[in-house]
Amino acid sequence: MTILFAMEHMEIITALDALLVSESDPIACMANTAALLFHSMEDVSWVGFYLLKNGELVLGPFQGKVACTRIALHRGVCGAAFTGNCVVRVDNVHEFPDHIACDEDSCSEIVLPLCDSSGDPFGVLDFDSTVYSRFSEEDAQMLLLVVERVAAVLIKHKCD
Ligand code: SME
Repeated sequence: MTILFAMEHMEIITALDALLVSESDPIACMANTAALLFHSMEDVSWVGFYLLKNGELVLGPFQGKVACTRIALHRGVCGAAFTGNCVVRVDNVHEFPDHIACDEDSCSEIVLPLCDSSGDPFGVLDFDSTVYSRFSEEDAQMLLLVVERVAAVLIKHKCD
């Protein structure tokens, strides 16, 4: 199946490639990826990384309000994406039974796993919006390209 991205999606991927090709440090790459996405996607109130450390997800580089620093693997939208190793798109977080409300104004969310070369997740990329149903299937397809690229950097230049 061919996915046709909106021009703005293609521009985000092009800008991301330019950022990642010129820097190999994992923290720097995650930080600029979060900044790029936060400032180039409309109505995104929070975007950031959680990485697996000692059996829990620990907050990494992000843009937005102060967020919870540690998430148990079986908790929240992040935990669902991580343990299910799948994209979790939530149109209304108030209807998601175990949503963790870091920001009480958050209405919708999308979380994508970051996977190693064996396909096993080692973190997630999380987005919040104060708009219901903010994240489309087309967004998910574009963001899958984002996590694929960032994961490749993190795998190559291991982040402890
Ligand atoms: N809402 C997430 C927690 C992380 S914050 O959104 C930054 C969850 O339910 O996993």
